[in-house]
Amino acid sequence: MDKIIINGNRRLNGEITVQGAKNSVLPILVATLLVNGISVIHNCPVLSDVEATIKILQYLGCKVTRDGHTVTVDSTNVNRNDVPDNLMREMRSSIVFLGGILGRMGKAVLSTPGGCEIGLRPIDLHLSSMEQFGATITTENGFLVCSAEEKGLTGTRITLSFPSVGATENIILAAVLAKGTTIITNAAREPEISDLADFLNRCGARIHGAGDSTVTIEGVNGLHSTEHTVIPDRIVASTYMIAAAMTNGKICLRDIIPAHIGPTIQPLREAGCDVTVSGRWVCLSAPPKLKRIRMIRTMPYPGFPTDVQAQMMALTTICEGTSVIVENIFESRFKHIGELLRFGARINVEGRMAVIEGVKHLNGANVRATDLRGGSAMFLAGLNAYGTTEITEIHHIDRGYESPEKVLGELGADIKRVTDDEKN
Ligand code: EPZ
Repeated sequence: MDKIIINGNRRLNGEITVQGAKNSVLPILVATLLVNGISVIHNCPVLSDVEATIKILQYLGCKVTRDGHTVTVDSTNVNRNDVPDNLMREMRSSIVFLGGILGRMGKAVLSTPGGCEIGLRPIDLHLSSMEQFGATITTENGFLVCSAEEKGLTGTRITLSFPSVGATENIILAAVLAKGTTIITNAAREPEISDLADFLNRCGARIHGAGDSTVTIEGVNGLHSTEHTVIPDRIVASTYMIAAAMTNGKICLRDIIPAHIGPTIQPLREAGCDVTVSGRWVCLSAPPKLKRIRMIRTMPYPGFPTDVQAQMMALTTICEGTSVIVENIFESRFKHIGELLRFGARINVEGRMAVIEGVKHLNGANVRATDLRGGSAMFLAGLNAYGTTEITEIHHIDRGYESPEKVLGELGADIKRVTDDEKN
């Protein structure tokens, strides 16, 4: 098992370019199924979740090649409508294949994706939305059979009881080639939804209002080949800004979209960081001592992102004073707290609320990545900690961060990845 080793308490300083957004790439790769041609997608990070998505596309009959950060998908000959259990299980968000396969093939057979480390991850909103398009859904031996083969998909009005990102994406994917118009009310507003819509509109789709809570999709007869560059990853950008904040450091992120990280800039300023925005640059300069952050509540975009909750919690462990974090999106997204305590953090939990009493600094510890973002909180804590930190189960981190040890090393961290054979 690979692990990451950090000798902490070193200031980070420098400029980085942030990887493409994982949560954009995944639905956009699925959307290539709807294109009867070739899609060239630039700025695709090298992540295990992206590779898992590519494996499913290849299983379905697509020809997929990667040249650096450019992935080319030829979906001319899609010839399957099912995703086997082993491939579905590799990545929890593979449920977003439902809308893509249904939209292209008229029938989709997927195993029900299990929950994951951060929650049960129900898919009721996804399934009820597909039924509103006229699809029928049955379950056979643990597989969901979603079919609209008789009459095809018909555009409809769908109101989401919760602005689910994945359900919004599945509705858009199913609506693009449906007969008639679909209107989504209470749609998710995350930037990744807008990026998906931008890609599809480049292919000839007719989507209006993506990024707002009402999205209209006029069905079209087909989509054509195109090229697209994925937006920068706002979660990864926030993570590396927090790394600089926790090490009294200074960081500049080039070529990002500042509006997308607005929700995390605010608490960083409250903690005493100097954050400046100019065009597509954002720079952060940290104070020697961070001030406490009164209250962070995770909310759907444009509220504070749940995907930065663990990282911001790592930061609050070394603030002067007591901070409070409330996790409103997922029911068990505090698994990283047990590992943060091993660094000497002082955290109490009451249901969905964590109360963090800041300490002067953390101390190196042997910890494990509990999940993707909880894993990033481990390397953030290790960068601040006095002494050595060893992080195991780093496959969680590799799902969403491309070579974090390389990026952080270039900023001055003493960090390395030790692979199994190197250890022997
Ligand atoms: C997406 O997950 C992201 N994943 C998550 O990022 C992110 O945390 C989440 O959106 C919220 O922003 C990808 O984009 C691949 P949801 P998704 O549907 O679509 C409940 C990361 O770290 N819900 O918006 O699964 C659900 O239980 C990952 O990169 C239902 O009840 O999130 C949760 O409480 C983690 N029924 C809430 O909605 C449903 O049918 C938000 O889920 C669907 C969701």
